[in-house]
Amino acid sequence: MRTPFLAGNWKMHKTIPEALELVNALKGPLGEIKGVKKAVCPSFVALAPVAEALKGSDILLGAQNMYWEEEGAYTGEVSPLMLKGLCDLVIIGHSERRQYFGETDETVNKKIKAALAHGLDPIVCVGESLEQNRAGETESFVGSQVRAAFEGITAEQAKGIVVAYEPIWAIGTGIAATPEEANRIIGEVVRGTLAELYGDEIAQQMIIQYGGSIKPANVEALMSQPEIDGGLVGGASLKAGDFITLVEVTARVKGLA
Ligand code: 13P
Repeated sequence: MRTPFLAGNWKMHKTIPEALELVNALKGPLGEIKGVKKAVCPSFVALAPVAEALKGSDILLGAQNMYWEEEGAYTGEVSPLMLKGLCDLVIIGHSERRQYFGETDETVNKKIKAALAHGLDPIVCVGESLEQNRAGETESFVGSQVRAAFEGITAEQAKGIVVAYEPIWAIGTGIAATPEEANRIIGEVVRGTLAELYGDEIAQQMIIQYGGSIKPANVEALMSQPEIDGGLVGGASLKAGDFITLVEVTARVKGLA
């Protein structure tokens, strides 16, 4: 059975004191909920203080990005060596990074390999734009993103990689994909492509999240879908009460609470 996994992507929100306030509010209640993997992904500057605050808790810590080189003259970048030991996870290839910061399938692939080489578990984001969706290109585009991201990744490595299917048109818009459609794309396209690459047995073990306007009002319907193994949550992860609800509902819906 796949362990459901909910991660909060805080994006460019929360000062250090605000990040500490949020994580301190999450720690106790999330600690009570078993069977669901949980993570928070604050900004780089909040990682060290949040790591300190999370000591003794089962909440995992993730970065939102990283560069692939270990060190060098790359002003403003953060390397896997700097994250190693501090974080458990790293989000790679979020659509906002692809859209605003020039990330490509190739840089995503390099970053995944660098993360794996340093023991950081990647959450790799894929998802189509509204135009692609309307043009009926979702399947081919998302399939090609998955193939490119996993280029040169072995089956053994693939097992530790989480994929987040985040349709761009659903991110921050309040309009999530319908549960049935998210389930179909995740099952047929994301897991289907992984099955072509690594075989069905491995694809069936891999965690695939949905992301895009997950909130307390729609989490039950989304998490009731069998192919959706959890979520990558933006806006609703910034409020302790909402994120706790998402984790509670996921545990219940997946039969763990
Ligand atoms: P929202 O939950 O705010 O739509 O953001 C989703 C997302 O981009 C998570 O990475």
